[in-house]
Amino acid sequence: MCGIVGYIGKQDNIKIGLTALKRLEYRGYDSAGFAVFNEEKNKIFCLKRTGRVDVLENEIKNSNFSSDLTGSPSIFHTRWATHGQVSDANAHPHSDCQENIFLAHNGIIENYKELKEILEKEGHKFKSETDTEVIAHLIEKNFKGNLEIAVRKAVKNLKGAYALVVISRDDPKKIVAARLSSPLVIGIPEDNSNEYLIASDQTAIVPFTKKIINLEDNEVVVIGQDNFLIIKEREPERLEIDADDIQKDGYPHFMLKEIMESPEAVDNSIKGRLIPEEGLAMLGGLQDIEKELRKIKRLNIVGCGTASYAAMVGRYMLEEYAGIPTEVDISSEFRYRKPILDEATALLCISQSGETADTLAALREIKRRGTMTLGIVNVPGSTMTRETDAGIYNHIGPEIGVAATKSFVSQLVILALFTLFLGRQRGLSLVKGQRIVQDIQGLSGKMREFLGKQNGSIKELAEKYSKFNNFIYLGRKYNYPIALEGALKLKEIAYPIHAEGFASGEMKHGPLALADPNFPFVFIAPQDSVYEKNLSNMEEVKARKAPIIAIATEGDERIRELADDVIYIPKTSEMLTPILSVLPLQLFAYHMGVLRGCDVDKPRNLAKSVTVE
Ligand code: AGP
Repeated sequence: MCGIVGYIGKQDNIKIGLTALKRLEYRGYDSAGFAVFNEEKNKIFCLKRTGRVDVLENEIKNSNFSSDLTGSPSIFHTRWATHGQVSDANAHPHSDCQENIFLAHNGIIENYKELKEILEKEGHKFKSETDTEVIAHLIEKNFKGNLEIAVRKAVKNLKGAYALVVISRDDPKKIVAARLSSPLVIGIPEDNSNEYLIASDQTAIVPFTKKIINLEDNEVVVIGQDNFLIIKEREPERLEIDADDIQKDGYPHFMLKEIMESPEAVDNSIKGRLIPEEGLAMLGGLQDIEKELRKIKRLNIVGCGTASYAAMVGRYMLEEYAGIPTEVDISSEFRYRKPILDEATALLCISQSGETADTLAALREIKRRGTMTLGIVNVPGSTMTRETDAGIYNHIGPEIGVAATKSFVSQLVILALFTLFLGRQRGLSLVKGQRIVQDIQGLSGKMREFLGKQNGSIKELAEKYSKFNNFIYLGRKYNYPIALEGALKLKEIAYPIHAEGFASGEMKHGPLALADPNFPFVFIAPQDSVYEKNLSNMEEVKARKAPIIAIATEGDERIRELADDVIYIPKTSEMLTPILSVLPLQLFAYHMGVLRGCDVDKPRNLAKSVTVE
């Protein structure tokens, strides 16, 4: 949520800052702005506009004041509105009364109302409806010539989450950065150039440098131009990604590119992790706690949105093949319920970004109680990877489209590896283990074949259904979470279509009332252990004349008699069908979104990484 950038150095600040900011746009894109210290004029200039970074960039290009906007340090922001509507005034950076201090913020200040009331009584004048602006006034109140001290004093008053970059006219040659529960990364120059880039995440830093330091919670640091970098002594880490990893490679959208990358994602997630002859999964990240994992008798899995649906598929896998009682919760619910955990329970957090606020809060609460915590996370170095006791990386590179696609598929295959790992510790037979390994190894080939052959026909299907405004998705057992995910994808990407997912067995308990010729039903009905049950449900829908789209196993002719349209997926073992059945649903949502003119990579009101509650 929200992307922030800070740059200190002698190069073109606008070019560097806006390039970095564009790479963070997936975090929020309601408005964009920046502020820069112009030494010659001894003034901070600020420009902020509703809309995307392009709007800001064009205005700078066509302006006659661009020389005012050149200088150092400078701070940049792309917003995902939380407090206050989308407007120029509410866009960041925000400033104090005198416009001497400017800051960009990611996070939420929960006690901003109380703080604002006090500050207003003290005479501070506010210019926006945001929670952020209180921070600027708090810094102003504490400023006695040293920005770092003022920021340190100000953040002591804040409740909530923040990543901040702050500059001041009266202490000008530095950026003060601070974080609590919102990520912030400092790019360290590869040479001794004293050029620093600070950003919400590594995707913005990687074209600039691969040497980074992740700020830790409660840290306040000063990044300065004159050869000083005050930061807790620690070795910079090296980024594993390249700047080119974040390109569309000729695809019209990141979403389509990332769906097409799913087979490669599966390959990367399983690479070096399977021992076929022993029917085993070898998970380096869990090696050190292998013994402790043997003692685990129960698992709780948490995640949000798509990650929570991966967790639900994982529950079926873990209970069926590893024999471990598994509970799944949406992180935002889990953090407020009172789960009963003991020393034989482990908490598994699933998150692409590793920064999702609710999942982090659940993790921290459970860790505090001494429970073992694990993670399946894609972004290396993210907060979740640092705060869990152990975990498994997805290794699929950055995912830029707001819709989780290749990350979901990767989460599913990693859950299959995790099941194998725990299952073989607990009596899953060698033969069954070997069969699972074989099926996992066969997946990416089947995915490639499917994507290569079927994208065109799914596009045609989307054309046929693009005028419908409501859809129901139904599935059972392993494919019940896929019904939820299919519906989520469609409403997220092809808004304002309304789509809901249900367990097929729930259909007669309410949703069937909606069945009529204007309301398509999507059935995920591969030939698995609940196939016949799904067919009966389809009969019931057909009798009400609702159009039916079925996702079925290759060669299934019976289903043609019931469904108006069938998309065939290759055959695999039941536990792995979700990895194939979700692909047509992702593509269907993608094409529906494009046909409806939606911005599929940056759907309205959403952001890639939800770092606020
Ligand atoms: C799905 O398409 C979403 N954009 C969303 O549900 C996402 O999966 C969720 O916010 C969780 O994010 P995370 O994996 O980074 O924790």
